[in-house]
Amino acid sequence: MSDQAWQNVEQEYIRMKNTHMRDLFAADADRASRFTTKACGFTLDYSKNRIDEASLKSLIELAESADLTEKRDAMFAGEIINTTEQRAVLHTALRRKADDNVLVDGENVVTEVHQTLAKIKNFVQQVHSGVRQGYTGKAFTDVVAIGIGGSFLGPKIVTEALKPYRASTIRVHFVANVDGHHITDVLAKLNAETTLVVMSSKSFTTQETLKNTETTRDWFLQSGGSFNDIAKHFMCVSSNIEKATEFGISEDNIFPMWDWVGGRYSLWSAIGLPIALAIGFDNFEQVLSGAREMDEHFQSAPLSQNLPVLMGVLGVWYSNFFGCQSHVLLPYSHYLRGFPAYVQQLDMESNGKGTDHNDGAISHTTGPIIWGGEGTNGQHAFHQLMHQGNTIIPADFILPVKPAHDETEHHQMLASNCFAQTQALMQGETVEEIKSNLLAKGIDEAQADKLARHKFMPGNRPSNTLLMTELNPSQLGSLIALYEHKVFVQGVIWNINSFDQWGVELGKVLGNRVLDALQDKAQPQLDASTQQLVDIFKSSIN
Ligand code: F6P
Repeated sequence: MSDQAWQNVEQEYIRMKNTHMRDLFAADADRASRFTTKACGFTLDYSKNRIDEASLKSLIELAESADLTEKRDAMFAGEIINTTEQRAVLHTALRRKADDNVLVDGENVVTEVHQTLAKIKNFVQQVHSGVRQGYTGKAFTDVVAIGIGGSFLGPKIVTEALKPYRASTIRVHFVANVDGHHITDVLAKLNAETTLVVMSSKSFTTQETLKNTETTRDWFLQSGGSFNDIAKHFMCVSSNIEKATEFGISEDNIFPMWDWVGGRYSLWSAIGLPIALAIGFDNFEQVLSGAREMDEHFQSAPLSQNLPVLMGVLGVWYSNFFGCQSHVLLPYSHYLRGFPAYVQQLDMESNGKGTDHNDGAISHTTGPIIWGGEGTNGQHAFHQLMHQGNTIIPADFILPVKPAHDETEHHQMLASNCFAQTQALMQGETVEEIKSNLLAKGIDEAQADKLARHKFMPGNRPSNTLLMTELNPSQLGSLIALYEHKVFVQGVIWNINSFDQWGVELGKVLGNRVLDALQDKAQPQLDASTQQLVDIFKSSIN
């Protein structure tokens, strides 16, 4: 990104920072349509942002000056853009058509992708049809999907979001946390004879996932299964075939994935096996095709009409110029209730970085804190702070226009709340307006004056409204890819590697040392506070 482009945005910020969106709307009858873009079944209304044409232009120029289009093309072409791990970044290859070509080290990876998809298809059909059975010859009724981070969040939220598309009566239970309550609760209600286990770990070294799998294997053996039966019940998805076979998983039962797929970008790979088991292979393919549609949009639409680019630069505008520290996701959809947690990993693990591509420390803000929750629930909880708190929280409101139920009035109420929140955040309510309403209700002057100060709604709080035609597999695929590419755009502007995650490593190393201390296997040097916590824990548990 060029210094000049950054300074131009800074100038635009200085010009715009005290402008109220109310005035922008009042001055331009076409503002809503001017700042609305449609693509891939989405309507993105970004008119309730603190921008005008000049400021938006400066933001697009900032993206251009960061060589966004060249870097985007390098990612799609399989260049080594994850430079700290020397890897290509090719989650987009996972949704390419079979006759496409993407070369990594001279090999067309699309061939392997489609071989694995064929293996998933075959497996899912066998499970659904009852051809593949448990060790006593019964059809599978339940799947325990074990994984964490990217090997959990994607499959979980897609399975949850596409509940109306379930293709079989098989129930899928996700277990991520190493907290023994989770796995014991799940296993307590299952029958080992009819339970299939899918363990997902790209690295096959993740402590939580290995432990939960071992516990499940013990449960299986204690419930009547034998060692020989394990092969019928335990599947695994991993790029570490060696470790998986060492663990005892037979090679036939391993679904491969590859180094060039990041964990948080992996639901499109065999990590999506639990999704396909829940919604069927055809629907899973629709998820992939929706993502492909968004890839094509991202690659071909002009930057000023490109959904991920628009959402990306707006995020930079607020983070780096307005000083906003967080970004809230508000799906007005019960089925999308897990989406904020998904994007939290996607965005914060990708862009929560402090060193740039030139190995230098970054002095400005990078990835924002991502949080959120389903509407309308949040309105009765945290929206208060969004409306009146002394901090600006840019918001994405997401609404599937067509519901999967017939309760029209419910849906109208849901949508009206969604739209009204964007309106309230944008326009607010002045002290004068509030006071005159209070006086009209017969409240005396002094009381009206006092109350109006507390009821004052500053407004000018930015939001995007993203309407999707409906929450179907293809639209969901597009939605997730939209956020993937938004994160990419921001990573390019900040000149960071969005595809490594070194920040999670120290905690893992120290966690193992503390575990040694808790289990009396070693006495590592710990700081006084941590040692005290270890001592209290040990003395209370013994
Ligand atoms: O610890 C972070 C992380 O490495 C994530 O990036 C990843 O999605 C998750 O752990 C799980 O990793 P794996 O699939 O290798 O078990």
